[in-house]
Amino acid sequence: MGMTFDFSGQTVFVAGGTSGINLGVAQAFARAGARVAVLSRRQEKVDAAVEGLQGLGAEAAGFAADVRDYEAVEKALGAAHQRFGNFDVLVSGAAGNFPAKATGMSANAFKSVVEIDLLGTYHVLRAAHPLMKKPGGSIVNISAPQAFLPMNMQMHVCSAKAGVDMITRVGAMEWGREGLRVNSVVPGPIDDTEGMQRLAPTEAAREAVMDSVPMGRYGKASEIADCCMWLASPAAAYVTGAVIPVDGGWSLGGAQAMGQGFEQLAKPQ
Ligand code: HXC
Ligand code: NAP
Repeated sequence: MGMTFDFSGQTVFVAGGTSGINLGVAQAFARAGARVAVLSRRQEKVDAAVEGLQGLGAEAAGFAADVRDYEAVEKALGAAHQRFGNFDVLVSGAAGNFPAKATGMSANAFKSVVEIDLLGTYHVLRAAHPLMKKPGGSIVNISAPQAFLPMNMQMHVCSAKAGVDMITRVGAMEWGREGLRVNSVVPGPIDDTEGMQRLAPTEAAREAVMDSVPMGRYGKASEIADCCMWLASPAAAYVTGAVIPVDGGWSLGGAQAMGQGFEQLAKPQ
């Protein structure tokens, strides 16, 4: 059970909020009373997420758009704004990942991940900025340990997520005086997610991951949501430009060690 926060009357937009960690974040804000809008590529996922959020008693809306398409992002954010008003909270977490060596992927594969994670985050923040509550708004980017730990088979993801954290830091500098805060949350290995399914697909790999976490367990999406809600709450009113691991200590070294094992996961070329 998460902590208790009250976001009633507030509007929260979660980009990539239709599955896994980001959906968990959207659901936590919904339970805390917020109006919630989500965006992702696939209409079925969007519809299912919205239905679930409404089932929690929240006003909810969803938009099918690809974060690589700036105009589509701008249109979706504009429609959400029309319906729910200024965004108190923006969470940006759309991402793509697969294990592959730098020379084991095409230039287009590298570009796809950079376009989704890095350009996508820029697109979402750029289009949301004029629609954010100022002062008082809070932006949270969902990063990854790859942003600061070089990991085998992850050159594309490491480069993209490092850029995401720089968007966090420069955004915090440029928008601080407007009363808009920008932070990154860095999840550790989170249970029941597409991300860990891709990086630790077997029971043996799953156990190796657990061994590599100082706290000896996977995290829960609700634990990432708790940090996002704290960052969006008045308790974090002076926190901006921070990159905060919520990972049971994984990024102290275990995450990188585990990356050595990704070798076996590459698609045969
Ligand atoms: C090498 C691969 C590949 C693989 C795809 N490609 N998978 N190359 N190894 N395993 C190549 C394709 O051949 C293609 O290159 C290019 O990447 C684009 O692939 P498409 O399938 O055409 O692209 P698209 O449909 O846009 O899909 C994007 C994607 C996909 C990133 C490739 O996996 C996706 O949609 N992912 C979203 C879901 C996801 O990844 N969730 C996990 C997030 S977890 P060519 O040259 O053939 O055109 C995360 C961090 C977890 O981000 C951190 C844990 C620590
Ligand atoms: P996930 O379920 O695959 O979540 C990704 C979300 O983004 C989905 O809603 C997906 O929906 C959407 N998305 C993907 N590409 C998109 C695009 N081009 N445009 C718009 N939306 C797009 O994966 P997850 O494992 O929960 O990961 C969520 C976030 O946490 C990511 O930022 C990831 O890097 C980060 N993270 C995860 C872990 C982990 O343990 N899983 C660890 C560290 C960091 P559609 O397919 O409908 O587009």
